Order: sequence, then structure tokens, then C-alpha cells
Amino acid sequence: MFKIRVNSREIRFVNRVKELEKLRELATKGSPLVEFVYGPEGCGKTTLMKYFAHSIKDNKKYTVIYIDAIEVSDPEKAIYTNINITVKEILDTITETFNIPLGGLIALNLSKILSHIINRFKISNKNIVIIVDDVVRSIGLDKVEYYIKYLYELGTKIKIEHEPESLLILATTSEGVSRRLIAKHRHAVIHLLWNLDKRSTEELVEQLSNRNIIEDIWELTGGNPARIIELAVRFDSNIKKWLSKLEERLMDIVHIVRLKSLIKYLRDVVENIDLLYEGYEEGYLKLLGILEESNLVIYKGYSTLSEDHVSPDPMLGIGRYYAWQIPAYTIILRKILNKS
Ligand SMILES: Nc1ncnc2c1ncn2[C@@H]1O[C@H](COP(=O)(O)OP(=O)(O)OP(=O)(O)O)[C@@H](O)[C@H]1O
Ligand SMILES: [Mg+2]
Repeated sequence: MFKIRVNSREIRFVNRVKELEKLRELATKGSPLVEFVYGPEGCGKTTLMKYFAHSIKDNKKYTVIYIDAIEVSDPEKAIYTNINITVKEILDTITETFNIPLGGLIALNLSKILSHIINRFKISNKNIVIIVDDVVRSIGLDKVEYYIKYLYELGTKIKIEHEPESLLILATTSEGVSRRLIAKHRHAVIHLLWNLDKRSTEELVEQLSNRNIIEDIWELTGGNPARIIELAVRFDSNIKKWLSKLEERLMDIVHIVRLKSLIKYLRDVVENIDLLYEGYEEGYLKLLGILEESNLVIYKGYSTLSEDHVSPDPMLGIGRYYAWQIPAYTIILRKILNKS
């Protein structure tokens, strides 16, 4: 059974049926490109990747290797595979040391690890799935392009030399800035993973809190599982306290916006987020830099992993091109801007 731990309790994995279907299809066919999954912070990328790895691990057709590139010190968490090899053996193949997390070290040494694995296990009839989770946060923006090329070339080499049945390389990121670097790369393709839909949000909230706050949670979090858990568990469903904690963070960002004389643009964008894309003044571009870097907004122009598009929904702060990562940000920003 796949379990998700939330403090002392365990919760069920909800939905993602279409996304899992697509991942299974990709895993069976393989892909010549590095398949990136990109989406709002806390929308469930890691959980989906782990669930997917778990769901195929007992099928002998698949060899799956999952790497948590930001795991700092626990080897058992940094790498997971369904082949019969110890984590110690994998780590022994890496001799260099860098000043990056353990998971990042594994990600950067994937080539060595894979050749070790390939020498020990027959892979010629296997569907190989390699998942590198949160790679950008771990290796840094400056190495993203290099790393995409590295993964791509590694994939090509394995296919030529070892002829697996298929090979799929998946990577995830939530860094808005990184998606521009990824998008311009011809060896990579981006799929959007969005927050949970309303029914799945209900299913998640029911496991954590009482039903009567479902509507509020939906309107404030837009279905972002990390924020739902934060509000329902850490803040014990105390919406007021949760909002004031968010306000503290946003005050700081508004302060920067004010110092850069961009308040006028922020007022406009709070009412119409697509001005970040369609506003023909440099102020919108400068503001976009701040909002994207602080993970308040995210570009949503890509099709989703389930081959759909996220529809605009002004109530939830979702525009045609950009969206607030959670709708609560617009409520708080309006409040801060009205005060000043
Ligand atoms: N489908 C799901 N069912 C139940 N809980 C979920 C689901 N997806 C995510 N969660 C919960 O939400 C939390 C945040 O999700 P997760 O860490 O997967 O997001 P993420 O997109 O990887 O975040 P980040 O951008 O920070 O890497 C998880 O710890 C898990 O508890
Ligand atoms: Mg993650």
C-alpha cells in the first residue's frame, strides 16, 4: 500500500488517474526526450512521481530508479529502485564530492550509477524509467541546461549500447524561472501538473478536517495539496491565522515591489493576472520577475500531463497565461494594497 504521511497520520493518495495513465503510456513506449513535469510549488509532483514508481515497481517489465535530488543526508530517501541492489553499493560508485545535497550528487553521477547497474543486471528486455525529482533546486539554475543535455545524451547512449525495450527519463521542477531554460532546449519537453480539482480537494480535505470548510479551502488554496495540508493540519483549519502568516510573507514582497516603484502594476495585475503577459509596459515585465521568482505566480501556457489545458478561472486567480499559485494571494494582496 502506498501511504502518505501527514504528521502522525496516514492519508490516501487522491486522483491523478489521467496523469498516471499518461505516465504509464510514456513508460511503456519510452521517449527520446527528457520529459519535464512542471507545476506550482506543492501541487503534488513528488507525490505523483513516487506513487507512479510504486505502482510499477512490482511489474517485472519495469526497472525504475527514483532520485530525490534535494534529499540532504538520508541515502534511503535519496534513491529508490526496484532492482536488487543496495543503496550503499550505489553510493560506493560515486567518489567525487561536491557542495550539494546527497540527492543532487546522485543526480549528477547518474551515468556512473547506471553503468554499474547495467553491468550487473540485464536490461535488454526492460522498460527503464528514471525519475529525477526536483533537479533544479538541487543543482542550481546555472547547471540546468548542461544537465538536460547530460540526461539526453545518457539516454541515447544507454539505448544504443544496451537496447532496453524502452527508456523514459522524467524530471520535475517548480522553479518558474527554470522553465524558460528548459523550454528553449530541443532535448526536453514540458508538461504542466496542476493543483487538484475540486472533487479531489474534497477527498483530501475529508481525510484531514471537517467537511464544512471544504468550500473555503477550495477558494483559498485552489486545490494545492501542500497548502491544504498546511491550513488543515498545521493551522488546525484556522483560516484567519493561516492568512495572517501568508500576509507576513507577502508584505515583504510588496515592500520590494514598492521600492522598485511597481505598485501601480501590482494593483493592475491583482485584478487581471494576464497583464503579466499582455501588458505592454516594462513595469509588468519587471513585476513578473519578482512575482515569478518568489513563486507567487506561475506560467500555465503548457498543456498538462493529461493532455489538457488549465482553463482560466478568475475566481481562483487563473488567467490564460499566468496564474496565482494559490488564490489566497490575491485576497491578501488586495488587503495590503488597500491599506497603503
Ligand atoms: N495526489 C495526492 N493525494 C494526497 N496527498 C497529496 C497528493 N499530492 C500531494 N499530496 C500531499 O501534498 C504534499 C505536497 O505535495 P508534493 O510534495 O508532492 O508537491 P510538489 O509539487 O513536489 O512540491 P514542490 O514544488 O515543493 O516540490 C505531499 O506531501 C502530500 O502530503
Ligand atoms: Mg517536490
